[in-house]
Amino acid sequence: MDHGRFTSTIAFLLILYCFCWEFGASVDTITSSQYIKDPEDIVSAGNKFKLGFFSPVNSTNRYAAIWYSNISITTPVWVANRNMPLNDSSGIMTISEDGNLVVLNGQKEILWSSNVSTGMNDSRAQLMDDGNLVLGGSENGNSLWQSFQEPSDTYMPKMRLTANSRTGKKTLLKSWTSVSDPSIGSISGGIDPSRIPQFYIWNGSRPIWRTGPWNGQVFIGIPEMVSVYLDGFNIADEGNGTFTLSVGFANESLISNYILSSEGKFGKVLWDDTEGSWRYEWKFPKDECDVYGKCGSFGSCNPKDSPICSCLKGFEPKNADEWNNGNWTNGCVRRRELQCERTQNGGQVGKEDGFLKLERMKVPDFSEWLSSTSEHTCKNECLNINCSCIAYSYYPGFGCMLWRGNLTDLKKFPIKAADLYIRLADSELDNKKINLKVIISLTVVVGAIAIAICVFYSWRRIDRKRKSKKVFLSKRKVGYPILSDENMIQDNLNHVKLQELPLFSLQTLIAATDNFNTANKLGQGGFGPVYKVEILQGNLSDGQEIAVKRLSRSSGQGLEEFMNEVVVISKLQHRNLVRILGCCVEGEEKMLIYEYMPNKSLDAFLFDSLRKQLLDWKNRFKIVEGICRGLLYLHRDSRLRIIHRDLKASNILLDQELNPKISDFGMARIFGNHEDQANTRRVVGTYGYMSPEYAMEGRFSEKSDVFSFGVLLLETISGRKNTSFYGNEEDLSLLGYAWKLWNEGNIAALVDPGISYPSFHEEIFRCVHVGLLCVQEFAKDRPAIFTVISMLNSEIADLPTPKQPAFSERRSELDTKSLQHDQRPESINNVTVTLLSGR
Ligand SMILES: *[C@@H]1O[C@H](CO)[C@@H](O)[C@H](O)[C@H]1NC(C)=O
Ligand SMILES: *[C@@H]1O[C@H](CO)[C@@H](O)[C@H](O)[C@H]1NC(C)=O
Ligand SMILES: *[C@@H]1O[C@H](CO)[C@@H](O)[C@H](O)[C@H]1NC(C)=O
Ligand SMILES: *[C@@H]1O[C@H](CO)[C@@H](O)[C@H](O)[C@H]1NC(C)=O
Ligand SMILES: *[C@@H]1O[C@H](CO)[C@@H](O)[C@H](O)[C@H]1NC(C)=O
Ligand SMILES: *[C@@H]1O[C@H](CO)[C@@H](O)[C@H](O)[C@H]1NC(C)=O
Ligand SMILES: *[C@@H]1O[C@H](CO)[C@@H](O)[C@H](O)[C@H]1NC(C)=O
Ligand SMILES: *[C@@H]1O[C@H](CO)[C@@H](O)[C@H](O)[C@H]1NC(C)=O
Ligand SMILES: *[C@@H]1O[C@H](CO)[C@@H](O)[C@H](O)[C@H]1NC(C)=O
Ligand SMILES: *[C@@H]1O[C@H](CO)[C@@H](O)[C@H](O)[C@H]1NC(C)=O
Ligand SMILES: *[C@@H]1O[C@H](CO)[C@@H](O)[C@H](O)[C@H]1NC(C)=O
Repeated sequence: MDHGRFTSTIAFLLILYCFCWEFGASVDTITSSQYIKDPEDIVSAGNKFKLGFFSPVNSTNRYAAIWYSNISITTPVWVANRNMPLNDSSGIMTISEDGNLVVLNGQKEILWSSNVSTGMNDSRAQLMDDGNLVLGGSENGNSLWQSFQEPSDTYMPKMRLTANSRTGKKTLLKSWTSVSDPSIGSISGGIDPSRIPQFYIWNGSRPIWRTGPWNGQVFIGIPEMVSVYLDGFNIADEGNGTFTLSVGFANESLISNYILSSEGKFGKVLWDDTEGSWRYEWKFPKDECDVYGKCGSFGSCNPKDSPICSCLKGFEPKNADEWNNGNWTNGCVRRRELQCERTQNGGQVGKEDGFLKLERMKVPDFSEWLSSTSEHTCKNECLNINCSCIAYSYYPGFGCMLWRGNLTDLKKFPIKAADLYIRLADSELDNKKINLKVIISLTVVVGAIAIAICVFYSWRRIDRKRKSKKVFLSKRKVGYPILSDENMIQDNLNHVKLQELPLFSLQTLIAATDNFNTANKLGQGGFGPVYKVEILQGNLSDGQEIAVKRLSRSSGQGLEEFMNEVVVISKLQHRNLVRILGCCVEGEEKMLIYEYMPNKSLDAFLFDSLRKQLLDWKNRFKIVEGICRGLLYLHRDSRLRIIHRDLKASNILLDQELNPKISDFGMARIFGNHEDQANTRRVVGTYGYMSPEYAMEGRFSEKSDVFSFGVLLLETISGRKNTSFYGNEEDLSLLGYAWKLWNEGNIAALVDPGISYPSFHEEIFRCVHVGLLCVQEFAKDRPAIFTVISMLNSEIADLPTPKQPAFSERRSELDTKSLQHDQRPESINNVTVTLLSGR
């Protein structure tokens, strides 16, 4: 292109630009020369928003404002000269000589100014497509001022509301005075970071509504927010005292925002294009009990009660007459002094104070936060602080909240919410009821013990008879170096003597398996092939089917696992654990004999497109529950504490009635009574089921089994292998996929279509929720197996919100390794991969 043509092109573009400006089209910027004069306006680049002058309903005043360009009702989302209206249409919005954005009236008086020191006279203001008006220098793109930093009554999806706990500086929404008067009203809204951050609506300086503390995931005073992501609200701690409120998942195709109305309500509005009107999606405060401090100190509000206010147990109205007349503002006072107060005042030392549990509460205002790992430590923290600590609440995954002084703004919810424990004098606690409970539980315990003793003795008698002909297998006799790996079987195993196991003769087994004919092979166990055997003659009743696991002679590796399994499983008896019937040790041959499971293993059902149809949701839930019971027995109820370490679908066997039985204890590890966690240099297990701390650092505990269980649970619901996701478009694992859908509120997409009937959805979604809790990155966040059982059975109504699971982002390095390690992904599930970690 020669020089002449270049300049003429530029000139043409300039002319075009000016031409466009003349007609007010496609210009989104104000400069000192390109100002807007009522009734002109400018439009953002994507035609989403307009900046111009408008009059509110029933008013002739003119205001400079931003509104949606594409909807039929002029809805201002930001107003400039709120307190200085124009009374005619002479208004001008321009850049002043000091570089500020200003609104001038006909007399060139400044009605409003962005009022920042710019140090330049050539700045420009640009209207963005998200509704933000940005004042910046023409040279550099730095913004000097933004309308988002000075919001009106509307919170836009891309906005950030900040508050600094050190400087006390806050960005607040400020309501209009009325619908026809945009001047700054008495209502404001924003976050208060002085304690645990939460969102408030204030009338002047008086709070009129609050969300309850932000627990890092949700506002715990809005129970609706626990299960449904309320548009992905988030409060981020910037680390310098600044907290930032933002909204996560704004659907670009919908026109919506959040409004703080002049009546003191904050809500989400959606533009309904077909109706041509705005409608509220939700709005707070919702009922009378949401009104801040409705029932005064120590009063609790329940919208279902009449009257709605009542004093907490152990408290009485401060002024009974007023209270009974419905004036609750004075609140309630404690009826009986706390013991700690009495002792401080030199009074009699009585019984210690106790705590009363109040369920489903909006926790009071003015909480203090302590990091704490259990409800018990939270309680102790409260007791350790002197008398001034009068209540605590432990929120799983968040920690401990304490209260001193008074309890203000309590509400009782009809649904799941936090549990609040209030401190009361012993005499206020319902001891009679407790005693009754104690009596009942004592009776139950004594009864159970008596039954257990009876059962034990009758079992002993039967057992003795059965074993009269059996040969004993002791570790010395067979001479295996089973204690060679210190990490595998530690000292405490010494206390565990090998138990007597019925012995089968090799001859019988060879005959029954047709010399271990592959036709009889059932599958591959942890250390060798498994055969189905029909015993025709032998120690067992004729015709009984058994399964034989044979230590494969080709690899020397299985020996430890073999002996480990003998040791572990011979100690265990539970309907959800596979039962060992005996063993066979002759010459080179080592075999274990189990009860035969006609329905093979869970993976044979779940991951088979035809057979999975046989497993309806009821069956799957029964299986999940059974696995849980088996695990609970391993972790808690058996005499030994056992970590399975290799829980996976192929290790869950199914009997005739599809009852699950956990099998393969080759990796299992016995824990001492006071041990909670152990390390191993030898990480054994199966990729996809291993918890991060185990896979990467070799640390394992009950919680690593819980992790594997979580994966198993999600596999059972989705009908897909964790590993089946490798190489998909987004490179997410099952966990990542589940997490993504959870965040999108689209759990239904995870569910195996074969079981996804609406009537089961509630239960299935609950299981997904529990599954996600089990696969959380940090072991401490995962529930213990007994909690999992309560959660599955809905005994625990309010599930905590799960944190992001492990391995949920793009495939981790470890996963990649596993794929290289074994190029056949379909076999990963069957073969136990042993990996020597590099430590
Ligand atoms: C506007 O004024 C009319 C007549 O006074 C009244 O009926 C209407 O409710 C007003 N609108 C609003 C939004 O206040
Ligand atoms: C404006 O609204 C119409 C329908 O009301 C829609 O089809 C169109 O895409 C919208 N334009 C923009 C830029 O949002
Ligand atoms: C409009 O306001 C100006 C001052 O801002 C005042 O001088 C003028 O009289 C007002 N006009 C009317 C019609 O109220
Ligand atoms: C501009 O800001 C200064 C302090 O930053 C304040 O004193 C002044 O009143 C403001 N002026 C207007 C018109 O808001
Ligand atoms: C901006 O200021 C410079 C010097 O301070 C002056 O030369 C220039 O004319 C001014 N521009 C405008 C648009 O006022
Ligand atoms: C705090 O940090 C954030 C982000 O790092 C920053 O935007 C903000 O200006 C900081 N605030 C203060 C008061 O330092
Ligand atoms: C956004 O909303 C539209 C209209 O309701 C819906 O079809 C679409 O799926 C939504 N997108 C997302 C990501 O939720
Ligand atoms: C705010 O407080 C004022 C004065 O106390 C009262 O008149 C007004 O009704 C209150 N507004 C709301 C929305 O509560
Ligand atoms: C309620 O009681 C307080 C304090 O005694 C009093 O100031 C207030 O006026 C009373 N409110 C009503 C509605 O009676
Ligand atoms: C209780 O401890 C707090 C500080 O932890 C202290 O401020 C308060 O005075 C103490 N109260 C009593 C009654 O000792
Ligand atoms: C309750 O306690 C908070 C903080 O300790 C205090 O600001 C508030 O005034 C108290 N309210 C009453 C009614 O005592």
